[in-house]
Amino acid sequence: MINTLNQHDYSHHEERRAFSLNTPVLATERLVLRMPVHDDADELAVIANSREIAEMTARMPHPYTRADAANYIQAVHEGRVEGYVYAVTIADTGRLVGMCAVTNRPPSGDLEVGYWIGRAWWGKGYASEAAGAVVDLAFRVTGTNVIYAGSRTVNPRSRQVLVKQGFELMGLDEIDTVAAGRVAIERYRLTRENWLAGKARDG
Ligand SMILES: CC(C)(COP(=O)(O)OP(=O)(O)OC[C@H]1O[C@@H](n2cnc3c(N)ncnc32)[C@H](O)[C@@H]1OP(=O)(O)O)[C@@H](O)C(=O)NCCC(=O)NCCS
Repeated sequence: MINTLNQHDYSHHEERRAFSLNTPVLATERLVLRMPVHDDADELAVIANSREIAEMTARMPHPYTRADAANYIQAVHEGRVEGYVYAVTIADTGRLVGMCAVTNRPPSGDLEVGYWIGRAWWGKGYASEAAGAVVDLAFRVTGTNVIYAGSRTVNPRSRQVLVKQGFELMGLDEIDTVAAGRVAIERYRLTRENWLAGKARDG
């Protein structure tokens, strides 16, 4: 019998509901990505309390208080943030260095990846390593055929992280952010085809 499944047949994926699994721990070469826990609140409040970071994200407030950190962690634990939300930690030491997530973007339900890294650890490839792991997970365990991301037009670092993952620019938009008000953003997407093609290229 001829097997009619090929790499463009995703029906087996579509039967799986997004985020039906508990958030699995992800280990990369240098990082461990795990769910944030209540004990992270103090450290999270310190490294997230940066205008430079908050103004590049849609939802982070500035200043970022311990209560903001604790409330966010609580929201994740209560399932109020639908998706996989990760504390990005250094594998060898356990040090929290940032956050990375793939979540449902209301109201469309599209999957969107987001990340930030504490200022002291920029330029070491951690955001790329974390985003790559989370993108892989999302394609592997959900039925989605596309993952979206946004980057402010004034954020070349984030643009570079996305382009390296194979994301392509869809166009420009404007969004209301908590810390910076209304800002111009570039919208990106990564299709399952392009993700698979990237995997094939990387061997
Ligand atoms: C964007 C951010 C997550 C990047 O974190 P990071 O760990 O430093 O990222 P990486 O080291 O993996 O990659 C950064 C890339 O930007 C490049 N880069 C750095 N400064 C740059 C600049 N001024 N112009 C262009 N590219 C730049 C780096 O060379 C690197 O690319 P490379 O690996 O091809 O050399 C971090 O700067 C951050 O948290 N910013 C604030 C929050 C934010 O922007 N979040 C994303 C919201 S869309």
